[in-house]
Amino acid sequence: MDSQSGEGSTPESTVAATTPVAKTAARPPAANPAGAVVESTPDSSVNKMRRRIVWASVAGFLTTSFLMFLRFFLPRSIQEPSTVFKIGFPSDYALGVDTKWQQQYRIWVDKTSDRLFVIYAKCTHLGCTPDWKASENKFKCPCHGSGYDSEGVNFEGPAPRPMDRARVEIDPEGQIVVDTNRLFKWPKGEPSEFDKDNAYIPL
Ligand code: FES
Repeated sequence: MDSQSGEGSTPESTVAATTPVAKTAARPPAANPAGAVVESTPDSSVNKMRRRIVWASVAGFLTTSFLMFLRFFLPRSIQEPSTVFKIGFPSDYALGVDTKWQQQYRIWVDKTSDRLFVIYAKCTHLGCTPDWKASENKFKCPCHGSGYDSEGVNFEGPAPRPMDRARVEIDPEGQIVVDTNRLFKWPKGEPSEFDKDNAYIPL
């Protein structure tokens, strides 16, 4: 039908009408400014956009992989909490055992009539965290049954010695500063370190 419709129809214009894409590719844009060039511009923009999305996805994947690689090999100690921290004033604590810092710092604050000290909450048998049994006035290790009195001194089970105590001091504001990197021990058959300076705060 097309070949019969217009006076000026030529074989070339027939080809252009039926195969516009092929025509556009064959001629420079200036020679065919109307139809084919206008159609090729959106295609090019879409392709550029697709390429950008692909490259952005690849870059994102590589960056994420690199960060995960670094995270895997970085020393975990960087993210561990500080071993030196403040726990308030001596007057904040009542007589007896206070367990409020157990989860955060793995310590118990122990206050007697004449001193305040900090027990490091680690069983001296194999390192489990004992439980404070207020009704029995003792610490009980859930792993192998070691028992400690209210001052952390072992009296039953396989624990070889009392639990360690962390270094304590009072800062200029009057707050208790604890350092769990410095522990005072009482090894079996050896003198106790519990009466040394900074093993307790005198009251
Ligand atoms: S680790 Fe506590 S009794 Fe064994």
